[in-house]
Amino acid sequence: MRFSTFLSAAFVLLSLGLHASAHGYPLRVTVDGTEYAGANGPSASSDSPMREVSSNSPVTDPTSNDIICGLDAAQASSSASANPGSTLQFFWGTISGGNWFHNVGPIITYMAACSDDCSSFTPDDSTEWFKIDQQGESTDGDSSTWAQAELLDGSPATVTIPNGLKAGNYLVRHEIISLQNSVSVGGTEYYPSCLQVTVGGNDNGEPNETVHFPGAYSETDPGILGDFYTSGYTYVFPGGSVATISGSGSSSGSSSSSSSDGPTSSTRSSSPTSSTATSSASVPAASSSSSLAASPSAVPTALLAVDTPGSSSSSSPSPTNTSSAVDATGSGSCRSKKRSLRRRRATTAARANGTSSEVPSRRSMKMHRRRAAHAVSF
Ligand SMILES: *[C@@H]1O[C@H](CO)[C@@H](O)[C@H](O)[C@H]1NC(C)=O
Ligand SMILES: *[C@@H]1O[C@H](CO)[C@@H](O)[C@H](O)[C@H]1NC(C)=O
Ligand SMILES: *[C@@H]1O[C@H](CO)[C@@H](O)[C@H](O)[C@H]1NC(C)=O
Repeated sequence: MRFSTFLSAAFVLLSLGLHASAHGYPLRVTVDGTEYAGANGPSASSDSPMREVSSNSPVTDPTSNDIICGLDAAQASSSASANPGSTLQFFWGTISGGNWFHNVGPIITYMAACSDDCSSFTPDDSTEWFKIDQQGESTDGDSSTWAQAELLDGSPATVTIPNGLKAGNYLVRHEIISLQNSVSVGGTEYYPSCLQVTVGGNDNGEPNETVHFPGAYSETDPGILGDFYTSGYTYVFPGGSVATISGSGSSSGSSSSSSSDGPTSSTRSSSPTSSTATSSASVPAASSSSSLAASPSAVPTALLAVDTPGSSSSSSPSPTNTSSAVDATGSGSCRSKKRSLRRRRATTAARANGTSSEVPSRRSMKMHRRRAAHAVSF
């Protein structure tokens, strides 16, 4: 098959809004540089402070309890030690250890106090979550600069625990929202994940604003329903404002989170790095948005293969580094536009240089088609 034929076939399939199955979660996390294995993925550990989910698939109903910590999220047996001001880095990836591959949509992080030990705490719709970070487009109105796209090369999402936060046990709800299918109600994909942390120190700060899950998101919120490929709009984050942390005993006296001093944060997109400015120097593979634009790796290639839903337990992990650019976790759901097709064409051309697994085989295309046809018939 000629490659251009493949591209048109792919474009047609994607244009049908097909929903493929395989997506991802944080594979590991660091807290001030200390690494913890995730609870899902090829290097998962049963001691992980992250809550294990039952599938790499997204939550698609923001009114379900799965929106809290992910699909069937289970309590974790341990908690990571942190402090106010600690840097958290979440390394997102796929079921087989490859890099994250969706590129449109925000990364939003909340925290909630566990009533006691987080290992025995079950959050529900009365749990008080406060937003600590939100990352949208690094250039407001430029839909090619989403924070999420910076994860495509394996870089972590970086979040800072607010200064002044009261000591105690918390869940950190760190979430990617993928907007590639969000032109219709129900198309938005939520990937919430929860990390259990024990925050030390002597601070006493409390958030000025909290939300509930379910409840914080509606399927018709302006940041959840719409065509987010179009440039020129200002993204409106769902889930309220980044909270101000204040209270007596707060060490700094200042409201911590650097993103809390702007005027109206509800319509402001923070740069992927701005809200974590203090920590950016410690990001190992810091990627700027300019390098992002120029980098071929910033293109999802995952449409080249499709996985089946909920196959996490049965599929065997593949080597993580040799050909991680293409993962067994297809993204037929990545809605494609001409621009990304152009990029993909360039990328694939560049990658045709040696890594044979990155070129779609006739067989994988056939499978893709067959599965696509299958999906359509429902
Ligand atoms: C809490 O603080 C943030 C940041 O200053 C602000 O945008 C938000 O409106 C405040 N919320 C309330 C309920 O006052
Ligand atoms: C994978 O990457 C790690 C670190 O980059 C390296 O030590 C290891 O040898 C690599 N494994 C393979 C199979 O290439
Ligand atoms: C081709 O492969 C080599 C070695 O793997 C790599 O260093 C080089 O950047 C690749 N070139 C392109 C255009 O991808």
